[in-house]
Amino acid sequence: MASVLDNRPALKAQIDKVAEVAGYLWQKGWAERNGGNITINVTRWVDEQMRSLPAIDGPRPIGTVLPNINGCWFYCKGTGKRMRDLSRAPMENGSLIRVVDGGAAYEIVADAPVRPTSELPAHLSVHDYLLSTGSSFRAVLHTHPIELVALTHCRKWMGKDAATHMLWSMIPETKAFCPRGLGMVPYMLPSSVDLAEATLSTLAEGYDVVMWEKHGVLAVDNDIIDAFDQVDVLNKAAQIYIAGRNMGFEPEGMSDAQLRELTVTFGLPK
Ligand code: 13P
Ligand code: ZN
Repeated sequence: MASVLDNRPALKAQIDKVAEVAGYLWQKGWAERNGGNITINVTRWVDEQMRSLPAIDGPRPIGTVLPNINGCWFYCKGTGKRMRDLSRAPMENGSLIRVVDGGAAYEIVADAPVRPTSELPAHLSVHDYLLSTGSSFRAVLHTHPIELVALTHCRKWMGKDAATHMLWSMIPETKAFCPRGLGMVPYMLPSSVDLAEATLSTLAEGYDVVMWEKHGVLAVDNDIIDAFDQVDVLNKAAQIYIAGRNMGFEPEGMSDAQLRELTVTFGLPK
């Protein structure tokens, strides 16, 4: 089947990275059924010929108005689509959309009229916010990592920076590769504009990864591989904590002095 990715190797390379990560999410057990979603801002890889393509669906309202991303293009996982299917066939389980009407609506342009993820308000609000701050981040990942979600079932770990500090202290890599820590958003209805707004304000507090209580995690980074890595190191730290608890003790954790030493030596932001 002809695809808009044919003869566009740079754009295809970005979609290939999404497919690679979708496979990891399934292998990790973080992507039951249609669980999780990915969007990436692909505007810089869209050429003039592509810009003139007609819409095959829409316009449809986003549910909020996002002027900074008006005219931008995104690859989005399709709503109800499975990561394990997307990893094999990204353009059958997701689509390329462009934002129109001053940031109030989107159109599907290619390859097929696959409706984007139900978390589109949160994803596009985050992309809009990232552009407004001049960030280089172009990828948003939402997934359901087992151990991180389990932590949010305990009040203690929902406190500001309680989980961040514990996770950072399990293994040095966690602070090095998730240096802004884990922001916490209390339970809100999936796909709601309230959840999108709470996510934005938590990112604005200085986090690149945000936990949605009793649901999942949302991470932003330069590309989708980097966003995945941040969640992977955090969940690994949660697994180490749980392994210690399962061996019958409360893990000691690295000391505050050891964590500070990492910040100074590697020039970390926190
Ligand atoms: P979608 O299938 O609509 O992307 O929803 C999956 C999900 O994880 C909702 O939070
Ligand atoms: Zn979800």
